Amino acid sequence: MEILIKPTNKTISASQGSTLLEAFLENDIAISYSCLSGRCGTCRCKVIEGSVNGPAAAEGRLAQHGQFVLACQSRVETDSIIEIPEPDEIVTHPTKTIKAEIVSFDILSNDVRRLRLKTNKTFDYSPGQFANLTFWREDGTRSYSMAGTTDDDSLEFHIRLVPNGRVTSKLDEQIKIGESIKLNGPLGASYLRRKNTDPMLCIATGTGLAPILSIVRGALESGMQNNIQLVFGARTEEDLYGLDYLEKLASEYANFQYLIALDHTKPNSPHFRGLVTEAITERFPELKNWRIYLAGAPAMVEAASLVCSKRGADIDRIYADAFYPSG
Ligand code: FES
Repeated sequence: MEILIKPTNKTISASQGSTLLEAFLENDIAISYSCLSGRCGTCRCKVIEGSVNGPAAAEGRLAQHGQFVLACQSRVETDSIIEIPEPDEIVTHPTKTIKAEIVSFDILSNDVRRLRLKTNKTFDYSPGQFANLTFWREDGTRSYSMAGTTDDDSLEFHIRLVPNGRVTSKLDEQIKIGESIKLNGPLGASYLRRKNTDPMLCIATGTGLAPILSIVRGALESGMQNNIQLVFGARTEEDLYGLDYLEKLASEYANFQYLIALDHTKPNSPHFRGLVTEAITERFPELKNWRIYLAGAPAMVEAASLVCSKRGADIDRIYADAFYPSG
């Protein structure tokens, strides 16, 4: 079978039975991948022509014109034309399972904790990606995004304690410094795209601040001069955390500004009163050519993506990870 790759217009052959990703790698086609098991979405590409068998990202059956597929799980059935992401977006950090030692566990707010882990093996990831952490039992696995960058001495995670949550409600009592837990990652396709000068709008609610902080720090500390704006939303002042991080970054980097949006503000509050979607509507009327990074509750991610695309953001440049609350 022949595959014409877009946008490079290179034609490659795929042997019978091999996945799209295997065909790409055998032919030196650069494409991002990570988990190799259909979980992370990193290897997503688009069918322009032909038929592709496998779990299509959107439909779960034979994918055809215009549909997205996961290259690691899909096989071409006919000669095809496949579009892969722009070359400047390639990341290849194979997912691995390693042990990580707990080096600190401290309080960021009433219900958010900062966990720091040290791994005995190199753990590469792109800012914005996440990992699965297994606390004491297999059914104690939860997904959390790295909040730092790979230059840090340890991996940092922000964990919301869910009342009555099977794992998180017990962490304050059961976490022991010096113990090891299992870490599996990195995963996720909502990572920092570095090779561009486009303005960036980063939007977070709750512990969605973790991957967004990683993206902002990753961009600023690697010298990106892009205009970087962050909108961080919460219900009340008491639900906020991480403002010291944001203030420090804003004072060090002139190309970074942030806005706090609160559903309820106190009198004379310096913060925007309203939802993050309302803050975007009011402060960012034009988002053509912007890159949008979102992390937080699924309803916010969906609503904010819609607001951004209505303001001109290209849907292919909206990168989102939705966090389903897991206790
Ligand atoms: Fe294909 Fe993760 S590498 S879905």
